[in-house]
Amino acid sequence: MPGTRFEMIATELDDAGWGVGLGEGKRVHVADLLPGERAEVAIDHVSPHKPEAWAHLVRWIGERSPERAPPACPAFGRCGGCSWQHMAYPAQLAAKRARVVAALADVPAVRAGTVTIREAHPSPAIVGYRNKGKYVVGRAHERLVLGAYAPRSHHVIDTVGCRVVAPIIDEVASWVRGAAEEAGLGAYDEGTRSGELRYVIVREAAGDVLVVLVHTTETPRSKLESVAAAMAKHTAVHGVVSVANDRRDGSIVPAGSRAQVLVGAGTLVEDLGGVGVEVGAGEFVQVNRAQAAVLYARVAELADARAGVRAVDLYAGLGGIGLALARAGASVVAVERDRDAVAALTRAAEGAPLPLVVVAADAGSLTAELRAQLGERPEVVVVNPPRKGLDAGALALLADLAPATLIYVSCGPEALARDLAALAAAGYAPDVIEPFDLMPGTAQIETVVRLRPAA
Ligand SMILES: C[S@@+](CC[C@H](N)C(=O)[O-])C[C@H]1O[C@@H](n2cnc3c(N)ncnc32)[C@H](O)[C@@H]1O
Repeated sequence: MPGTRFEMIATELDDAGWGVGLGEGKRVHVADLLPGERAEVAIDHVSPHKPEAWAHLVRWIGERSPERAPPACPAFGRCGGCSWQHMAYPAQLAAKRARVVAALADVPAVRAGTVTIREAHPSPAIVGYRNKGKYVVGRAHERLVLGAYAPRSHHVIDTVGCRVVAPIIDEVASWVRGAAEEAGLGAYDEGTRSGELRYVIVREAAGDVLVVLVHTTETPRSKLESVAAAMAKHTAVHGVVSVANDRRDGSIVPAGSRAQVLVGAGTLVEDLGGVGVEVGAGEFVQVNRAQAAVLYARVAELADARAGVRAVDLYAGLGGIGLALARAGASVVAVERDRDAVAALTRAAEGAPLPLVVVAADAGSLTAELRAQLGERPEVVVVNPPRKGLDAGALALLADLAPATLIYVSCGPEALARDLAALAAAGYAPDVIEPFDLMPGTAQIETVVRLRPAA
């Protein structure tokens, strides 16, 4: 029952980073409670489908965990964005690795002990590492607020002051808030599904900043132009663009959106694998630039990329992996379905110049003509799909390409486990498994797996 209070001890962490223990016959999830800590908690929500409940902490009982650390951000605990900021970094790394170990426990090579899961590669920085700030626009005390939804609600928590984004992003976000208020822009209201400004994205690359204003179609352009004019006075602002979005599916910059340039340039130049690539409003870029560079270099090393090696980079995005392979000498065919990313990566590879061509297609349903562009039996294939992993079409393509080295870069350990089981059935076994922490302070973990055809 919501409101019920009881004492519990957290014994583990869930995938969202909340402490989990038993209470009232249920697995109870509590934010800001670490394994080993005891507290009085009050139930907020009970699952109607399974014996799980979510509760908030009412008061601590006894000692805090020795792994507890002071959170970096003022909004920790309210914003819900970085649920592990209260854990010391070595404990975060251990918990992230444990998440991968638990997810992959049934992968045949892991179970047989022929491959071990190495310690997580730590991020070079644990605050200030994000090159992108994403803000939901809300209203509180008659002011516009730029922030994030509080867990399981549409209440927007002010996250200006966030220490996880690069400091310039936080500064520019605070300028945007003031400029939007001055322009009389109204916040979009999820409850009534009406209003004007919905989200603000602030991207940074090489000290330059791109501001993206995501708004409803009913928003007067004059108000957006007024924000852009004010933002142009900030020396770091390279451009301000607007994206109209009336969708109700939670997408911020929906695939296929057209960004309108309000002032300056519509793109920034991001360094990916040592090559400058244009990044616009919506393209995917790893948010932790320094650690992504470490990961890309490690993938090129594990692939033994060099002149004479033919490689395919599936789900290439703006090409961080493919460009690293090509810089090491391999000839690369990259496959990506986002047309802006395809155009930007093509321009970057031609400009470098590097032996990388891009195929604009869905990796899971290539036509015979596009399939022919990948070539017969490339030595190396790298896949880096979205969190949900590979679909049947992509798995069939891998079986057909039959590379000597297959590298799977995954941000979803559970989907990775499912796909490794399917790849085991197709005759591939992992010989390297390395977690990389790209998002300190969160439960997120990236895993690089190298697979070879089983002997
Ligand atoms: C996790 S990102 C990886 C990007 C890139 N490897 C990197 O490190 O920046 C996944 C990418 O796959 C693309 N994508 C998603 N589904 C796809 C599909 N079915 N076919 C081709 N590309 C897809 C997305 O647009 C996105 O750029």
